[in-house]
Amino acid sequence: MATLLDPLGRKLEYLRVSVVDSCNLRCFYCSPGESCKPRSLRGQLSREHIVRAVTAAAKAGIKKVRLTGGEPLVRRDIVGLVHDIAQIEGIEDLSLTTNGTLLKDLAEPLAAAGLKRVNISLDSLDGHNFEQITCGGQLQATLDGIDAAFDAGLTPVKINMVVMKDLNHHEVENFAKLTLDRDIHVRFIEYMPMLGQDDVWRRHYLPSSEIMELCNGVLPMEAVPEEDLNGPARNFRFPDAVGLLGFITPVSQHFCANCNRLRLTSDGKLKPCLFSANEIDLQPALAANADLGPYYQSAAQNKPANSDVSPASQGSACGPQGMVEIGG
Ligand code: GTP
Ligand code: 5AD
Ligand code: SF4
Repeated sequence: MATLLDPLGRKLEYLRVSVVDSCNLRCFYCSPGESCKPRSLRGQLSREHIVRAVTAAAKAGIKKVRLTGGEPLVRRDIVGLVHDIAQIEGIEDLSLTTNGTLLKDLAEPLAAAGLKRVNISLDSLDGHNFEQITCGGQLQATLDGIDAAFDAGLTPVKINMVVMKDLNHHEVENFAKLTLDRDIHVRFIEYMPMLGQDDVWRRHYLPSSEIMELCNGVLPMEAVPEEDLNGPARNFRFPDAVGLLGFITPVSQHFCANCNRLRLTSDGKLKPCLFSANEIDLQPALAANADLGPYYQSAAQNKPANSDVSPASQGSACGPQGMVEIGG
């Protein structure tokens, strides 16, 4: 298999594919400038085109694929799409990032179709707070989804909590305690600034150092040796705990030097970095049934050394699409 290298010698092996830009929840921080409003679908790639794009990516050197959204499970053909991608030669790890609300019914069929594991976004364990953050979502649906993921063997199950000061930081300890007797990886993610949300971001950003202090207040954490340096999380564990605590620090301490990823947006744009506006539109080449290999090479060449999302950069923003289209 080929190797896809960027100009800094970083080996790009991980493709995050956003398969839909709509979501059945409306977390206020996710859709720029349209908090709590429904979104319309825009030029979404077909199943066939996604499969073709991933096949070309695998030929170029991609080994790991994560399906994201929006909420990937609102796509009607998601099980078929997982099935097709799981068949692609060279794809060794196929996972999905979801809000979990539809997993109760879909975990089994997804596992049978070839999905290996899921990461579940969950920002509150309190029903009322969950409803506030998601603009009306029901916590129980996500909790049922987590159980269904375990039952279907979609493990390790990772839970992503975006920690926001005064909105959910008082729940950090409760999330951390989930790891005591269950093999869950709870990852605390620093809230990243988005276009047009600088003020909100400033009000609610909490650095990982403070999140770690909250966790250490539960029990002293022990560092876990890094097995997989490719992941963005730094991992810890409470003494004798079953699960893991991970800290993802895109703002206070970016992990760009080890970045191994490219992204494909739901409308077919290849992005070399989460924060890069330097996109390549694959739709014309897909429509013409052209060789996509050169587009992956170009995206690799366009990959920036890093992206400054530190508070000092005055809250530089993720492109105009917002996370809902790029998939985090
Ligand atoms: P695995 O390690 O394979 O389990 O997945 P992951 O952590 O790469 O995927 P996940 O979708 O769970 O990502 C967790 C969060 O980390 C995302 O929601 C983003 O907020 C953040 N993140 C992931 N990749 C990047 C990245 O390349 N750059 C930045 N700045 N943030 C990222
Ligand atoms: N900062 C950090 N993480 C974010 N996500 C969405 N928007 C942001 C943001 N502004 C996360 C979601 C999900 C993942 C795909 O991206 O909560 O876990
Ligand atoms: Fe990679 Fe860009 Fe994320 Fe840095 S900000 S880790 S370069 S995707």
